[in-house]
Amino acid sequence: MLLKIESLTKTFGAATAVDRADILVDKPAMIGVIGRSGAGKSTLLRMINRLTDASSGRILVEGRDVLTLKGAALRAWRRDCAMIFQQFNLVPRLDVVTNVMLGRLNGHSALASAFNVFGEADIRAALGHLERLGIEGHALKRAEALSGGQQQRVAIARALMQNPKFVLADEPIASLDPMNAQVVMDALRRIHEEDGLTVICNLHTLDTARRYCDRVIGMRAGRIVFDGPSELLTEAMAREIYGAGAEFSEASTSTSIGALAPDAALARAASGVSAVG
Ligand SMILES: Nc1ncnc2c1ncn2[C@@H]1O[C@H](COP(=O)(O)OP(=O)(O)O)[C@@H](O)[C@H]1O
Ligand SMILES: [Mg+2]
Repeated sequence: MLLKIESLTKTFGAATAVDRADILVDKPAMIGVIGRSGAGKSTLLRMINRLTDASSGRILVEGRDVLTLKGAALRAWRRDCAMIFQQFNLVPRLDVVTNVMLGRLNGHSALASAFNVFGEADIRAALGHLERLGIEGHALKRAEALSGGQQQRVAIARALMQNPKFVLADEPIASLDPMNAQVVMDALRRIHEEDGLTVICNLHTLDTARRYCDRVIGMRAGRIVFDGPSELLTEAMAREIYGAGAEFSEASTSTSIGALAPDAALARAASGVSAVG
């Protein structure tokens, strides 16, 4: 078992953001977590990475409960589960290759030391990740000079620099146009397939989850209401996850729920590919 989440719960005062979530991951997977805004998706990911303390429950990895880790063991766990954020969280005025190498420092060490601790091997590794993501030509530019889609790929390269086992991506494409969204999702899919990483990706649109993820977890009001292969995510289940309304209106890529029969989703995916080239 790679990851076993048991009855994971987070309360904020009287509100329950995540309510007794159970998730088993027994082999490397690409998992999409979907649900309306406020459903608990970010809180779930943040608890896994220990950015947010859980109220109760367990997260078992390699026989240990990561919720109990401290000090060096906690830092090691955070290296093992790299986070990707909607807003990229790069250092805007630093060049791209240095941003990537910051992954080696687990993001939190003093920036001042960054310029001394990186050796040639780090630089080569960083450039290798950038090349693989198709942005090595931007290595020496400031991060802020890149487009959103390029910046998110820099963030993915930084995550890979940690040699993680898990990549936790919290709405990685919510700030991107459709073409860049596709490039970034393709990159996440590739690191899952080629490197065998488990990618858990919060997405607020169902069609992206269907298209890129083998498994979808649907959350509603803190509860997991669906967990299964994306093919089994029926229209009725989508209504259950997103609420009774006939329409998704949360995102630019959303569509009316009636159009979400699998064939329609596939046709849309196919047309999206050709429209982008
Ligand atoms: N730091 C916080 N303090 C209080 N309530 C919070 C905090 N973070 C999240 N919440 C609440 O927890 C619920 C789930 O939020 P979140 O995990 O951000 O959902 P999602 O990512 O699906 O939009 C929401 O009701 C939100 O208002
Ligand atoms: Mg969120």
